[in-house]
Amino acid sequence: MIEKLNDYLPEKRKRHSLNVAKSAMRLCEFRACDRKKAEIAGILHDTAKYIKFADVGKYCKKYGIELDDLEKESTALSHSIVGAYIAKYEFGIDDEEILGAIRYHTTGRPNMTALEEIIFLADLIEEARDYPGVEELRKMAYSGEIDRAIVKSIDNTITLLLRKKSTIHTRTVDARNYYIRKIKSMEKE
Ligand SMILES: [Fe+2]
Ligand SMILES: [Fe+2]
Repeated sequence: MIEKLNDYLPEKRKRHSLNVAKSAMRLCEFRACDRKKAEIAGILHDTAKYIKFADVGKYCKKYGIELDDLEKESTALSHSIVGAYIAKYEFGIDDEEILGAIRYHTTGRPNMTALEEIIFLADLIEEARDYPGVEELRKMAYSGEIDRAIVKSIDNTITLLLRKKSTIHTRTVDARNYYIRKIKSMEKE
């Protein structure tokens, strides 16, 4: 699988993918997740990252992928959806949990599965990631504050998207609302 990854990713992105796998396995400590699945999802999450914008349509036709309007406009969004189909049809992965983790790794979504949550976070905190606030996010995540880390990472993403005047996928906003409400309701208990 790692060898086959060479056909899809340059060395730097391959390293990122292996780092995500490593980080995801570490996060399994805090969620009911299969470590092997976390590893596979991490390794495969970005296989569609280097598909050119002009070629996305070909993959959609080939694999019957339906993208929404925001996903159609941006490979930053579509690569996770297309990646789930590449994992399925080109790497032979039929585990729905792994495919979901790949599918939602960029936007997140409300009420993510355990595997979706840890891949979403691992992508943003793997050891080579270096941006303002990453250390704080790592501390949160690796101390088991998964829900808070998810909200924090969405806040970071939305702040960046606002600054870039980019569109924000509604799934990301919905995910943030979900996890904020989840944290609040747990605090009440
Ligand atoms: Fe990605
Ligand atoms: Fe990634």
